[in-house]
Amino acid sequence: MGEDENILEELDDIQKNGLEALASVQDEAGLQAWRTAHLGRSAPVMLAFTRLGQISKEMRPMVGQKANQVKLALEAALKTRAEAVKTASLRQKLDTERLDVTLPGRRPTMGRLHPAAQALSEIIHIFEEMGFQEYRSPEVETDELNFELLNIPAYHPARDMWDTFHTTVPGTILRTHTSPGQIRAMREMCPKPIRVILPGMVYRYEQTNASHEMQFNQVELLAVGKNITLGDLKGTIEGFAQRMFGEAVRVRMRPSYFPFTEPSADIVMECFVCGSKGCPVCKYSGWLEIAGCGMLHPVVLRNGGYDPAVYSGFAAGLGPERIALLKYQVDDIRNFWQNDIRFLEQF
Ligand code: PHE
Repeated sequence: MGEDENILEELDDIQKNGLEALASVQDEAGLQAWRTAHLGRSAPVMLAFTRLGQISKEMRPMVGQKANQVKLALEAALKTRAEAVKTASLRQKLDTERLDVTLPGRRPTMGRLHPAAQALSEIIHIFEEMGFQEYRSPEVETDELNFELLNIPAYHPARDMWDTFHTTVPGTILRTHTSPGQIRAMREMCPKPIRVILPGMVYRYEQTNASHEMQFNQVELLAVGKNITLGDLKGTIEGFAQRMFGEAVRVRMRPSYFPFTEPSADIVMECFVCGSKGCPVCKYSGWLEIAGCGMLHPVVLRNGGYDPAVYSGFAAGLGPERIALLKYQVDDIRNFWQNDIRFLEQF
């Protein structure tokens, strides 16, 4: 009998202990642990049910009812506490993770044109203003157009002027200059007069240094017509240099040799990188070669379909990266293809 009354008190304690423990639960993990300890299969209130069989018949309904009440009370308390915990954690989240709408936004970084592309488009623009039309010709070229038709036969020593990337297809190469475009343009436009620029990438199997790269852009100039003279070539080049670098720029034409022009010249400009004092870019000469040029060789005119007795013309091949070196005072041409963002961001 005494045993049976004890269990009623015990159940009161079970409820009291459970509620006390629940009051200090602060989070989801605590709730889970509390549920296992106080309502789980081996929780004291659950064990009380298993003990009902040992209790006297008269007391059994009372104890059973009491155990049920305790269980319900604990369940109800758990529900209330769980809601309180949820609200508290939400409030805490709102407090600590609050969106500060007054913070300055993050600007997307603006892209820009590569300095070589900037120089190239400026050069193209200047020649377009001077009446030259843009003409595109392929970067993968035949040996015939890149050399033969430009008066450079196979085994001619002048081939050494262009170290060539060959492909696995015999007779097909990466163009070493934009000059093969001269033949393409002439053959397309013959017998009309021509004034075109041919911009684009060229490739050379070369040792690189401060002023030489394996790939670079060229802008070919080509003018064909009647009575075109060396004076027209010189005037065109000087007009270009003055627009690109200002009226006071010093440009020289220095006699040179190309198999496809006669006479031929190199166009050299004072080196702005060192103020003509001498540096690795200008090979300590104070002058930097920015183009090769000359009057079209009769063989080339004929290969393009023009009669050299009637027509004449000039051609030039400019190096936009060389021009960009001078314009932006960059001390090494290899910077252009190194993809170093710290370099590129300066333009
Ligand atoms: N194609 C020559 C070179 O790349 C440059 C050039 C072009 C010279 C046109 C004369 C006339 O070296």
